Amino acid sequence: MNSTTAPVLVTGGTGTLGRHVVPLLREAGREVRMLSRHAHEPAAGVTHVAVDLRTGEGLDAAVAGAGTVLHLAGGPKGDDEATRNLVRAAQAAGVRHLVYISVIGADRVPLAWLRSKLEAERAVAASGLPWTTLRAAQFHDLALLMAEKMAKLPVVPVPGGLRLQPVDARDVAARLVELTLGEPAGLVPDLAGPTVYGLADLLRTYLTARGRRRPMLPVRMPGKAGRAYRAGANLTLEGAETGTRTWEDFLAERLEGAPGKAVV
Ligand SMILES: NC(=O)c1ccc[n+]([C@@H]2O[C@H](COP(=O)([O-])OP(=O)(O)OC[C@H]3O[C@@H](n4cnc5c(N)ncnc54)[C@H](OP(=O)(O)O)[C@@H]3O)[C@@H](O)[C@H]2O)c1
Repeated sequence: MNSTTAPVLVTGGTGTLGRHVVPLLREAGREVRMLSRHAHEPAAGVTHVAVDLRTGEGLDAAVAGAGTVLHLAGGPKGDDEATRNLVRAAQAAGVRHLVYISVIGADRVPLAWLRSKLEAERAVAASGLPWTTLRAAQFHDLALLMAEKMAKLPVVPVPGGLRLQPVDARDVAARLVELTLGEPAGLVPDLAGPTVYGLADLLRTYLTARGRRRPMLPVRMPGKAGRAYRAGANLTLEGAETGTRTWEDFLAERLEGAPGKAVV
């Protein structure tokens, strides 16, 4: 099989990002092999293998024959270990292009899960395989989850100085597919959303869209991570590529018909 007929292995193909990526790869005519821990029904041109990347059991067989690996699987911890296992299997299979999604600030914000993303990035870059890594900002879906949780509190604590530039997972998916089908490019420019918001503004837009009100209480983020966030270490203000869809667009679409919806 040559690199355009071999399936693309998409780890985490069932996740928030993966669900947007897989149809785009299909539209581009590529066979897809998804990998995640839980079983998933196959579809036209899409197969699924159930493997836990953190144990690595069954991983060699899952990677065999894949020309390109798009590594999206991730969780709150263990992305370093999972990625090292994947890299070993990809080396054994002679993969031609390993593409990885990381997070803006992985190299600057001192938090355990971001350190694990950075370690994963390093494993990819040191693999000896042709590679591409894209760092993206927080997805709108994650910002929504966060806003929903915070809005359940009677008074919402808002860490002062925390800014976000959330990006739409569909924009990230489109960029990743372009990178996956292109030549290995190393660390490419970050992908962020079109607007930088203070956390309070982000929440206010959500509350307005829901037709709710909540008092907000400014709080101070402690420690080194707090300092890094206040300094904007989770942002890319210069040199980033930007997604097309705003937080307001996303909310209007997502909350369409939801109780308490107002015009955003
Ligand atoms: N969400 C964000 O805001 C954001 C921002 C920038 C970058 N990223 C990165 O983008 C990637 C995808 O994020 P997402 O929001 O789409 O995540 P998600 O919705 O939580 O999906 C995670 C995917 O990974 C699979 N998975 C998790 N642990 C696994 C393991 N040990 N072995 C095999 N598969 C595993 C999950 O399926 P199973 O549960 O069935 O295993 C699922 O398919 C992650 O690497 C994340 O760090 C996310």
